[in-house]
Order: sequence, then C-alpha cells, then structure tokens
Amino acid sequence: MARPILIANWKMNVPAIGAKHFVRDAAGVVNAAVEMVVAPPFPFLSEAVTAAESHGGKIAIAAQNCHDKASGAFTGEVSTSMLQQLGVSMVIIGHSERRQFFGDTDEWIGRKLAAARAAGLMPVFCVGEDEATYERGATMELIERQLREAFRVAGSDLSPLVIAYEPVWAIGTGKNATPEIAARTHRGIRSIVKEIAPSAEYRVIYGGSVTPANARELASSEEIEGFLVGGASLEVTKFLAIYEALQDAAVAI
Ligand code: PGA
Repeated sequence: MARPILIANWKMNVPAIGAKHFVRDAAGVVNAAVEMVVAPPFPFLSEAVTAAESHGGKIAIAAQNCHDKASGAFTGEVSTSMLQQLGVSMVIIGHSERRQFFGDTDEWIGRKLAAARAAGLMPVFCVGEDEATYERGATMELIERQLREAFRVAGSDLSPLVIAYEPVWAIGTGKNATPEIAARTHRGIRSIVKEIAPSAEYRVIYGGSVTPANARELASSEEIEGFLVGGASLEVTKFLAIYEALQDAAVAI
C-alpha cells in the first residue's frame, strides 16, 4: 500500500493558534508512516513554509488554488511558478467550492493540473458528486466525466498526483460517506484512471466531514489512502488525532 497522506485544507480560515504554531505542533508528531500536508490561504503560505522548514521539513505546504497561466493580466490570481518559488510543493485543484463558487470548469481544471505539473507541484485533484447526483445513483458517471475531461486537457502525464474523492453532500455537513461508499467510489476511480492514464502514479484519498470520531473506521479501508480535511483541520489536536488514526491503520494494513 502507498504511504497515506493527510492534508489540512484550511479554506479561508486560519486556526486560532496561527499558521506558525500549528505547523510547529504538527511537526512534533509527523513521522515516516504518514505524509502530512497543510494548505493555508495564500497570505499564510510563506509563514507556513518557513515554519515547516525550521521544524525539520517534514510537512509539505500546499496552496488551495492556482491559475493556469505563468503570468499576465489576471488580477487577483497566483501562478504555479510563483507558488513553487515560495517553497510550496503541492496545490489543491478542482475543489468543489472552486467549481461551485468560482467557475472552475473541468476544462480549466485540466489546464491548472498541467500548470502544476509544469512547475513541479504535486496536484491534489478533487472530484466528487453533488447530492442530487448521488441520490440518482449517477456518481460514477459524473466522476468519470471530471476525470476524463481533466486528463484529456492536462495530458495523462500528471504523476505523481493525489486524487481526492470529496462527495459534495459530505463537505462541511457532518455527514461523511461510509467507508463502503468511499471504497466503492475509490475503486471506480481506479478503474477509470487505469483506462485513461494507465501508467499514472497516484493515491486516492477521501474528504468530507472527516473527524477524529470517524477517521479510524474510514482509515481501516485499504482503498482510502489518506484524507483531505476541512473543518477538523482548524484545531491542531483534532487534526493530529486524525493523523494518528491514519498512522495506526497504516501499521495494521
Ligand atoms: P470538511 O471539508 O472536512 O469540512 O467537510 C473537506 C474539504 O472541503 O476539503
């Protein structure tokens, strides 16, 4: 099994203890068993990178978005090469909040994925269905479109990458997918990627209301190779409890 990865997606928030102290506390528990990534808002990236470096470089810092162009007249946007120069090593692309509120289309997401690759950033590519699609039983059709379109535009050479399955109905709702639902969808994602990018190296992680209370059960599924955590990543103790759950599961599997 691949090394599990745990990613804190702070969204437009900063934990009460601040980016620097969060990274310091988290660095105290990180070990080789599980990779840890923190994704702060843009203005806190530099502080997080510096803190991660000064505590042993064991935590990777990710941005939550990027633009696909290298530079130009794109007010308010940030390019992947700028992120790379800052010491950021990963970038979340295609989060459902970006798709829903900021007009990120499958096509644009594909271009962002290519830009991340070009700058040497590892993409955390998010896919997932909305509630109505889930209720209709059309989850895999929607995810297949998201995957195919993005890989078609980006080219299949995106390795290594992380694919995050985040059902929209589970994000910030307190209603997580069961391990069975997540595992079934992860298997579906693998069979699609096998067809469209047979040599891709990737991990499939789950996101959507992951908390210390459900992390152990979710982590016990072999199909779940890590978590993308929003709400529960804003408190370092909760985030580290989730880390411990992944770590224990990695040893057990
Ligand atoms: P949540 O968010 O953990 O608050 O549900 C997950 C995400 O959106 O990445």
